[in-house]
Amino acid sequence: MSPTTATLDTAAQASLGTPVPRLEARDKVTGTARYAAEQNPPRRAYGWPVPATIAHGRVTAVDTTAALALPGVLAVLTPYDAPRLGPSDDPTLQLLQDTRVPHRGWYVALAVADTLEGARAAAEAVRVGYEAEPHDVTLREGHPGLYTPEEVNGGYPAHREHGDPDAAFAAAPVRVDVRYSVPPLHNHAMEPHAATADWDAGRGHLTVYDSCQGTTVVRTVLAGLFRLPEDRVTVLAEHVGGGFGSKSTPRPHVVLAVMATRRCGRPVTVALPRQHLAACVGHRAPTLHRVRLGARPDGTLTSLTHEVLTHTSRVREFVEQAAVPGRVMYAVRDSRTTHRVAALDVPTPSWMRAPGETPGMYALESAMDELADALGMDPVELRVRNDPATEPDSGRPFSSRHLVECLREGATRFGWTGHRPPLREGPLLIGSGVAAATYPVYIAPAGARAHARPDGSYLVEVNATDIGTGARTVLSQIAADALGVPLDAVTLSLGNSALPPTPVAGGSAGTASWGWAVHDACTALTDRLARHHGPLPDAGLSASADTTQSAKQKPPYARHAFGAHFAEVQADTVTGEVRVRRLLGVFAAGRILNPRTARSQFIGGMVMGLGMALTEHSGLDPAFGDFAERDLAAYHVPVNADVPAVEAHWIDEHDKHLNPMGGKGIGEIGIVGAAAAIGNAVSRATGRRLRELPLTPDRVL
Ligand code: MOS
Repeated sequence: MSPTTATLDTAAQASLGTPVPRLEARDKVTGTARYAAEQNPPRRAYGWPVPATIAHGRVTAVDTTAALALPGVLAVLTPYDAPRLGPSDDPTLQLLQDTRVPHRGWYVALAVADTLEGARAAAEAVRVGYEAEPHDVTLREGHPGLYTPEEVNGGYPAHREHGDPDAAFAAAPVRVDVRYSVPPLHNHAMEPHAATADWDAGRGHLTVYDSCQGTTVVRTVLAGLFRLPEDRVTVLAEHVGGGFGSKSTPRPHVVLAVMATRRCGRPVTVALPRQHLAACVGHRAPTLHRVRLGARPDGTLTSLTHEVLTHTSRVREFVEQAAVPGRVMYAVRDSRTTHRVAALDVPTPSWMRAPGETPGMYALESAMDELADALGMDPVELRVRNDPATEPDSGRPFSSRHLVECLREGATRFGWTGHRPPLREGPLLIGSGVAAATYPVYIAPAGARAHARPDGSYLVEVNATDIGTGARTVLSQIAADALGVPLDAVTLSLGNSALPPTPVAGGSAGTASWGWAVHDACTALTDRLARHHGPLPDAGLSASADTTQSAKQKPPYARHAFGAHFAEVQADTVTGEVRVRRLLGVFAAGRILNPRTARSQFIGGMVMGLGMALTEHSGLDPAFGDFAERDLAAYHVPVNADVPAVEAHWIDEHDKHLNPMGGKGIGEIGIVGAAAAIGNAVSRATGRRLRELPLTPDRVL
């Protein structure tokens, strides 16, 4: 097993595994790539939503007189006159259906006008009357609303217990019992949520350009809400400027855009201003963690308890599954992993990159570091000592698990020297930290089609969504590989709900799910071509694939990707400022299909983890009941000057129990554990444990 390094040898015949640059790179940098709000059908109008300005209560009146008197205003939709929607599983999409206000920022009207500026002015001129009720947006220990849900996200049981973790903890010679806090966080993709909807009343057809992570689900939901047959709805998403989970389910903007085009008989774009996003497209819910670890003096874990408290909204139960990685990571019989949630008057949380694992592994991997301190043991060795032979919670064998190899490889590359005192350079304290990463392997059924043309070119159609990850490129590589042709013989068409159904770009499952269908369609086409004699007919030859049978088969293995992060930080004893000097990750995520785009996924995740550790924070203001940080001036994501040399490496992992390409998914594991490695480095540097993120100067000093 050796680390893979990217080479620049892009051998066309062996496309898979080579660092092919993004196929749409030129379109993006030259501005010819069109995003949802940039579609410009004739007579296009614009919608601007009106957010509620109370945190709990109801609307008593909406006065649209002044708004409708403004020039170019076409309509103002209110809870009293908006179209009645059909059913949806997601109550956050039941917009303008009643007068209740479940949280500040909930949409209570939509202004539509000829121009974007006109719509915005009209929205500001809408007068809304409210009856406010008391609100509560503060999650805390002992909150009377806390309850144990039936399930947490991902369909995992909320509570798991093995043996007697309390007795084992009480009897453990070495113990840590620690609490951590992760604040709400926001995805803040570069492209804010936007949709352009065009209802053709004559044809009875709805066309929607949506900035989303998957068009199949958007089509299904819109068809249900607007009571249309699915074949009367087409959703397109050729280019998407990031999502990180916030676009993995349909969002209010697309429902409002469709309401408006149906009402006004013109195409309508709803492009949300960034200031709206915090309240209406989801957030990573805050989590309060208590972790108890018991060990023998040699480092063998004897007890593990991870208890998570989190919030959801009054609209929808959404429970961040942050204790779940404790069921995967370490060999310990006596364990409890459990979640409780309180429904508060807050915006509805949702998916954000590696939901569950990201906050959960921050807490667990920080606690492991504290245990290593208590034992006087190298934290790498502590993890190696407790590496399990089978998945602890289920007892199933791993399809592959190379966490120890990631730790060893990372330690060598980083120059890890174990448990050593901090260095000092003038006012700077310098320390290093390590943490592990894990993320499950998900896969979902998908369909794809492949066509061979008489001129020797190929068209491959799959309703994948490239949210900036490089999916388009990697899927083209998979196709070329399966067809045995050069990459430039393949054209890939994606982002269109008229193609066979596919899952979203989420759960790090995109490439595996879509790629499997592409692989199968191309393999079937190759077989057809092999049996075909003579020149191809003008229409060419086609083959399609549907992986419903193969992708749904559950192998008897626990399937997870693993990784290890190493961080070196400096803490300024004068200003309290922490800066990351080095960040290095080694991942075991199956076969790496494109080293260039894979590296970007890994380092992108690591940088997001850096932001989580040091700067990112969305605070719920108890008085106003809203997020205080609502734009990128207040919500601090890392910028270039914050990001040092970040290195991502990987183990060449061959796992036969995944999918035909052998990949485990790489979109999310990069963020998992990164914040813990940085936090552990800060503790090593300063000699103090800080257990509340982010590690801002006021906390560090
Ligand atoms: Mo990802 S948070 O599953 O889009």
